[in-house]
Amino acid sequence: MKFIIANWKMNKTVHESLDFVKKVSRAKTRHKVVICPPFTSLNSLASALKGTNMLLGAQNMFHQDSGPYTGEISPSMLKSIGCDYVILGHSERRIHFQENNEMICLKVKAAQRHGLVPILCVGETLSERRNGNTFDAVARQLSLCLSSVKGPNILVAYEPVWAIGTGNNATPEQASEVHSFIKLQLKKRFGKDIPVIYGGSVSPSTIKSFLSEKSIDGVLVGSASLETGTFLKLI
Ligand code: PGA
Repeated sequence: MKFIIANWKMNKTVHESLDFVKKVSRAKTRHKVVICPPFTSLNSLASALKGTNMLLGAQNMFHQDSGPYTGEISPSMLKSIGCDYVILGHSERRIHFQENNEMICLKVKAAQRHGLVPILCVGETLSERRNGNTFDAVARQLSLCLSSVKGPNILVAYEPVWAIGTGNNATPEQASEVHSFIKLQLKKRFGKDIPVIYGGSVSPSTIKSFLSEKSIDGVLVGSASLETGTFLKLI
């Protein structure tokens, strides 16, 4: 069993989300499938996915439980509608919304406090890779985002920034090298094997090569998760 996590990003109305789930939710798969729609579709999909073997995740949240934080969504709100997972620290949030490692760390802890499994995203930029700083960049993100995080109830997504939405995926060998490094750091940290999934231009034609790597416990898929035919091929 591996994880196949769909990150829909800012796509699909509630109606479109329900229509998608109706077409795919009975499909047979031996993998653990998690759908992460926009906030507006979460509640409807929570009902639609009941009784199926697919799980629900959010794409972000704030770290406080409630209060004067206009426009934000709290972990308890997510938990109360049946979310199990939450993507945190995606590079698009770091780039477009100025999220930094310290903020992401607060979110990781808040998610765990509420029984949500954080999917913590880390990954190097193209210039970091070109300058030979991939491992340093990833180690730094891990150490800051996991600072004083105690529980091992977490998934890490290795998402090289240069591979996201570019069609230019890392090779399974490149990914596997970084996964082994991340897994070692996590094992030292938590004394336990933590799943590490790969994200960045995964498609039906490349998914097998990723999932056949021992160090790759699953995939986080953006654009190839949006269309039912492609998604069914993936799962
Ligand atoms: P992509 O996105 O599959 O479209 O590259 C992956 C992600 O951002 O999680």
